[in-house]
Amino acid sequence: YDYDLLVVGSANADLVIGVERRPGAGETVLGSDLAVHPGGKGANQAVAAARLGARTALLARVGDDAHGRLLLDSQRASGVDTVGVLVGGAPTGVALITVDPSGDNSIVVSPGANGRLTPGDVRAAASLFQASRVVSAQLEIPLETVVEVVRNLAEDGRFVLNPSPPRPLPTEVLTACDPLIVNEHEAKVILGDSAVGETPEDWARILLAKGPRSVVVTLGAEGALVASAQGVTRVAAVKVVAVDTTGAGDAFTAALAWRLGTGASLAEAAAYAARVGAVAVTREGAQVSFPTAAEVEALCCADPGANPR
Ligand code: RIB
Ligand code: NA
Repeated sequence: YDYDLLVVGSANADLVIGVERRPGAGETVLGSDLAVHPGGKGANQAVAAARLGARTALLARVGDDAHGRLLLDSQRASGVDTVGVLVGGAPTGVALITVDPSGDNSIVVSPGANGRLTPGDVRAAASLFQASRVVSAQLEIPLETVVEVVRNLAEDGRFVLNPSPPRPLPTEVLTACDPLIVNEHEAKVILGDSAVGETPEDWARILLAKGPRSVVVTLGAEGALVASAQGVTRVAAVKVVAVDTTGAGDAFTAALAWRLGTGASLAEAAAYAARVGAVAVTREGAQVSFPTAAEVEALCCADPGANPR
């Protein structure tokens, strides 16, 4: 394979304002200076994997505008192959993000060009799929495009999905996932009524019964659960002081997808991904906060309370 990871997904300009608290309906609050960062769940995954050393390509669509150029520059600076990044058709996607003092965020996304990434665009990139060991996707692009992705995987290619923002998934997509990676919110939306009153271990088992070959449930400061035919295992969290959690889930997914492609077990890959996500939350922004492999090593296991140097 020419690529360890092909990411199919969104690219957004993140317009970020720090706030003491979020405004309610009809209310105005003052916040920090505006920061404009390259983001989007797909573009974030690609940068995260490339910074760790994975040979990575991105299939995405941006507008022919300044935000699109910001995103292309960020991909190239991180070493991502942008041969699959299409330009034009609509403005580049934008995410309006507020970050509160605890590092938590709320996000509104205008999909823009991401909404114009079509099944035809996927078919036209068939050679990229044949050249990629692992393919990952998220849900900031049309669902029919994700369906076409699973139809174009290489013969023994592996598919990893983070269904964010969440919506019910067709069986064809669910059964292709290895793994399906969800946080608590995403698990609840996908499971609907069957999640009520159940523990995260139960969510993992119920999700697995819907067809994925494996499932990962991320639990923030509680770590993660990995589930497959071999059973459900807990992966410990790495404790750090959160500054900005934006994109940390994308870094987790990308790191996990890449490690799986190198032959790691699901639990090993998730443990490594947890360390990558932990570094990402200690810094502002999404892509700009993602670590290199050396920075992941520097997250010292002897002192798990310490942020990386
Ligand atoms: O997952 C974080 C990302 O969600 C941000 O970069 C923003 O663009 C939204 O897509
Ligand atoms: Na961050």
